[in-house]
Amino acid sequence: MELFIDSADIEELRRCVAGGLVDGVTTNPSLVAKTGRPFHETVVAICELVGGPVSAEVTATDAAPMLEQARELAALHEHVVVKLPLTRDGLQTCRALADDGIKTNVTLCFSAVQGLLAAKAGATYVSPFIGRLDDIGQAGMDLIRDLRQVYDNYGFETKVLAASIRHTEHLLQAALAGADAATIPAGVFDKLLNHPLTDSGLERFLADWKKAGL
Ligand code: E4P
Repeated sequence: MELFIDSADIEELRRCVAGGLVDGVTTNPSLVAKTGRPFHETVVAICELVGGPVSAEVTATDAAPMLEQARELAALHEHVVVKLPLTRDGLQTCRALADDGIKTNVTLCFSAVQGLLAAKAGATYVSPFIGRLDDIGQAGMDLIRDLRQVYDNYGFETKVLAASIRHTEHLLQAALAGADAATIPAGVFDKLLNHPLTDSGLERFLADWKKAGL
């Protein structure tokens, strides 16, 4: 499973990638806006920090300017994956980019039929938003399972990138459901390693070792 960090904060990302467990990064306009730094400069800095895919999202909504913006983003760095909204114009742009061999991440996917269209448009990744579906009382994880099945039924190569992950259990369930990738906030990443029995077990091993004086 590819593991991405959902952030545009360079310092936060630096801390997360240091352990060598992070495969890439996803950003969105809200996350970039929070940094207060210029968009392109931020994308390049993230790409240089992470040796893997970095999703950078277009903000144009009509197909022609969206394609132009997408090409500009793709030209910034070889690691850029162009993030496009799951709209008619977004999918039209996705097709054009796929035909040129440019990697894409179709975002804001809330149904399996939307995901089917993203795959038909040649998306490299599709991002189903688990947490935001849970927020409105729908089972977000069902969408991961449905997409897995639809893509497997037809041999689509589009990768299911579980997004809008709010806690470690979301990540586990997405992995069990066969998501190819997941993007998680830095706070969730920090919690993945922790288990109280690991801490108390290590404490006991070290105490016994010290007592033995070997
Ligand atoms: C994915 O690429 C999005 O940036 C992200 O996962 C959205 O998460 P949120 O619903 O917590 O904002």
